Amino acid sequence: MQNLPSTRQSHYGYLADGTEINRVTLQNSNGVEVEIISYGGIITRLLTADKNGKFNDIVLGLDNIDSYVKSNPYFGALIGRYGNRIAKGKFTLAGKNYQLDTNDGENHLHGGVQGFDKKVWDMAPFVTEHSAGVVMTLVSPDGDQGYPGTLTSEVVYELTNEDELDMRFSATTDKATIVNMTQHSYFNLAGKGSILDHQLMINSKQITPVDKGLIPTGEFSDITNGPFDFSQLKAIGKDINANDQQMKFGLGYDHNYVLFDKEAGAMSLAARVVEPTSGRILEVHTEEPAVQFYSGNFLDGTLTGKGQTYQHRSGLCLEPQHHPDSPNHSHFPTTTLLPGDTYKTRISYRFLTTQQKLA
Ligand code: BGC
Repeated sequence: MQNLPSTRQSHYGYLADGTEINRVTLQNSNGVEVEIISYGGIITRLLTADKNGKFNDIVLGLDNIDSYVKSNPYFGALIGRYGNRIAKGKFTLAGKNYQLDTNDGENHLHGGVQGFDKKVWDMAPFVTEHSAGVVMTLVSPDGDQGYPGTLTSEVVYELTNEDELDMRFSATTDKATIVNMTQHSYFNLAGKGSILDHQLMINSKQITPVDKGLIPTGEFSDITNGPFDFSQLKAIGKDINANDQQMKFGLGYDHNYVLFDKEAGAMSLAARVVEPTSGRILEVHTEEPAVQFYSGNFLDGTLTGKGQTYQHRSGLCLEPQHHPDSPNHSHFPTTTLLPGDTYKTRISYRFLTTQQKLA
């Protein structure tokens, strides 16, 4: 008999000011397990089966709350209010100029110095017949990190018996503001080593090229047959050292891929990762118009966790989102949220193996 989906709550640690950080563990009937903490809504552990049914942790993570507070390159975190960069932290909305934190050189990255990845979320676990989940909620006050409006956000993590981690994001505001939330897990489907032999498919024919500060120039460039082309499964390491200006700016892949033939707001396959040795496959589905592919270029062997040292390119991120710096490019899909409207988006990670038939 199969186990029923379940949730477990446990103590994770304390912040320096005494705030308790909790952990919720979700398990489905097949033994897939996801651990989430209230700090940053971080996925600290994610166990999935390989082609022989052996379970392993496939996300990068640190060992305790102090390490997450001290220095986390967004491992596993919920990102908000605005994922990715905003040039010089500046934007104009409804005739008003706003200045956000600048925490990435002169630019704003992933919501600022105290983005959603560093906030303490409320967690309410739940189980259904076919899933185990947790509802994460956070109220970000007017002016938080420079953003206008009180933003009330919710993220529902739901692990289903179809081996899918479904994430539903929503938010409302009391003033015109901007929102672009995402999830920032670093995956290594082999559980260790480099990700250069992982094979990747991204359902895209264009990227938004960037300048040397990784801010979009505003163009869309065709990537067909070039080093950025992942329209067919290709090893990540194959072209990563190509003599290409964009690759140099990113120090590898750190680019926003426009999803191909996307019906606005509809759920579709953004990317598929196949790790040949373990036979693990990850699919990322989303309602978002784009996905940031980041090949772990800034990992440099200074962080350790789970008994490993995280070397250059030991994890990869596929972050569904709107384009970077959208508030400053009026031809990009809008990231504006108005009072009375509800921001809604969805991301789903599906875990498969090469033993299964792909849809
Ligand atoms: C960005 C990288 C950044 C990294 C931080 C990614 O989402 O695209 O440029 O360095 O996050 O971990």
